[in-house]
Amino acid sequence: KRALILVGGYGTRLRPLTLSRPKPLVEFANKPILLHQIEALVDAGVTEVILAVSYRAKQMEEELTIEATKLGVNIIYSHETEPLGTAGPIALAKEHLSKSTKPFFVLNSDIICDFPFRELAKFHEDHGKEGTIVVTKVEEPSKYGVVVYDKTNCIQSFIEKPQEFISNKINAGLYILNPSVINRIDLKPTSIEKEVFPNMASDKQLYAFELKGFWMDVGQPKDFLTGMCLYLTHLRETNSQKLYKGPGVVGNVIVDPTATIGNNCQIGPNVTIGPGVVIEDGVCIKRSTILRGATICSNSWLESCIVGWKCHVGRWVRMEGSTVLGEDVIVKDETYINGGQVLPHKNIATSVPEPQIIM
Ligand code: GDD
Ligand code: MG
Repeated sequence: KRALILVGGYGTRLRPLTLSRPKPLVEFANKPILLHQIEALVDAGVTEVILAVSYRAKQMEEELTIEATKLGVNIIYSHETEPLGTAGPIALAKEHLSKSTKPFFVLNSDIICDFPFRELAKFHEDHGKEGTIVVTKVEEPSKYGVVVYDKTNCIQSFIEKPQEFISNKINAGLYILNPSVINRIDLKPTSIEKEVFPNMASDKQLYAFELKGFWMDVGQPKDFLTGMCLYLTHLRETNSQKLYKGPGVVGNVIVDPTATIGNNCQIGPNVTIGPGVVIEDGVCIKRSTILRGATICSNSWLESCIVGWKCHVGRWVRMEGSTVLGEDVIVKDETYINGGQVLPHKNIATSVPEPQIIM
């Protein structure tokens, strides 16, 4: 079995984190988003994953090779010389994808859910048409690709980012396609959502598979944090031994074994703490992600923040409002940051009371 993962976008909406690492390598719950996906694919029997890369391919290759070997999966890097959109990469990988007559999975690289690959493959086989897309319900469908389908789940129309409300059922960014779909795609920048799916829908060749459970596109800070909460809740229900238990921890929290937590802290609910992180005494952190190597000094208070790799947050700091610190940012003692997006290697010495980009 094969899968293609679209890892080519610039990840602009997840800046400043994506200035240091490509979006699929940003750790979500202490593991690159891409690895959550590859592990689920391997679980469902996939043995070959094609990564459609268009930028920062080197970094991606270096970091993934080791993990791939561990998982026993063959990774093929399909390099684009210009970004080919969400469909072009499928045409580019034709040689690999049409090696067998079996259908292949396609994934957007920024989505997290309880990946239902086995059930999806079964559903696809049962209806016998060219493609199946996973759909989920959301509150704000205009940010996504909206799908309309009949009682048999046959998709009648697919509209990418509609201006008006059509339905709250959206494309979850996971597909299974027959190799015949490759013939519908030219080798040039092409959008699968705007060009390929609407055509397949009018040919009655596209079906909807309804997702059970949580889902989130974690490609922007607010959604990243919401997705983290959903993921941790799911972990509590399915694999609660992976959650951290210890003094000062409240609710669903993950702490890497190499991180240290001081006395009199309140960590949680909904926090993930990466490798090598140092949390000093009296710190309170809620609904936040602290990435590898960061230090949070004593008595600081954080809510709804993403603290980038190797940041140094001083004492008595208060940060909230989806503040994102890029890599290696230094925040001076007693500073207040509300909704700041701080570029890598900056030094913050005065408070940022209103949301803004600091560069
Ligand atoms: N290889 C490659 N080349 N990958 C690309 C390119 C490219 O030129 N452009 C985008 N991608 C990848 C991104 O890295 C991401 O994994 C995926 O394609 C989708 O791009 P996004 O930029 O994240 O799209 P979106 O979130 O606005 O919308 C898409 O996802 C929604 C679900 O989260 C669409 O597929 C919507 O229909 C869908 O609802
Ligand atoms: Mg996205």
